[in-house]
Amino acid sequence: MACGLRCTKGLKICCGVTTIFLIVVLVILLILFLTDFKQKDPTITLQSVKFGRFHLDILPILDLNLSLAILVTVDNPNHGSFTYQNSSAYLNYRGNLLATAPLHEDTIPALKSHNISTILNVYVDVTEVPDLLGDYLGGVINFTSTTTLVGKVKIFNFIKIKATTYSTCDIFVYIHGQIANSTCDNKIKF
Ligand SMILES: *[C@@H]1O[C@H](CO)[C@@H](O)[C@H](O)[C@H]1NC(C)=O
Ligand SMILES: *[C@@H]1O[C@H](CO)[C@@H](O)[C@H](O)[C@H]1NC(C)=O
Ligand SMILES: *[C@@H]1O[C@H](CO)[C@@H](O)[C@H](O)[C@H]1NC(C)=O
Ligand SMILES: *[C@@H]1O[C@H](CO)[C@@H](O)[C@H](O)[C@H]1NC(C)=O
Ligand SMILES: *[C@@H]1O[C@H](CO)[C@@H](O)[C@H](O)[C@H]1NC(C)=O
Repeated sequence: MACGLRCTKGLKICCGVTTIFLIVVLVILLILFLTDFKQKDPTITLQSVKFGRFHLDILPILDLNLSLAILVTVDNPNHGSFTYQNSSAYLNYRGNLLATAPLHEDTIPALKSHNISTILNVYVDVTEVPDLLGDYLGGVINFTSTTTLVGKVKIFNFIKIKATTYSTCDIFVYIHGQIANSTCDNKIKF
């Protein structure tokens, strides 16, 4: 009780300074994490493609009917987990949409890799995409897949930021070996 008013004043200043300090630290942390995220896009690697079905039918029309079981690994190099909503992957061939595949909502943990599998059902009327026959006979078909995942990045269990990842992959299917490989370009945007 000796100092009364001076002490409460001191306490107030002390509390104020501590609060400001904490806010500054939080803001710096947030900026660090945000810039960190901006620099690191997730990488997507095509692990395996298995042909479930593969028919080149001649009658009644010339068509290609195939299904591909696809396993991709997503590497999340960021300090936040990414939870995305139900989405679709699209498979294009020279600008023609050939197939869509469902992607079930999921979470990719921070600093971890995560496997995603889906099945692409491809059905093409070859007469409408004449280049396909030439590529088929040539032995390599070059597809492009695009996927947009909308979701949230979560840091420390309490900071949540809306984020969207964009992924474009060139997929090369080698007809004779019935194998495929790909190169992907991925971006994450906040
Ligand atoms: C593709 O092949 C599968 C299995 O042979 C068949 O069930 C399906 O109907 C075919 N798709 C089309 C569009 O013909
Ligand atoms: C996501 O898709 C699954 C089925 O694939 C469905 O059961 C679930 O309700 C969907 N979630 C939302 C939020 O629409
Ligand atoms: C594969 O196809 C895409 C678009 O159709 C094209 O941009 C790319 O250059 C092709 N790659 C090769 C190696 O042919
Ligand atoms: C993903 O699948 C690949 C190939 O099957 C496997 O080697 C890897 O361990 C799997 N990763 C995870 C995180 O399950
Ligand atoms: C895909 O595999 C083929 C044959 O194994 C190889 O010639 C080609 O360079 C590979 N492409 C990529 C992008 O890995």
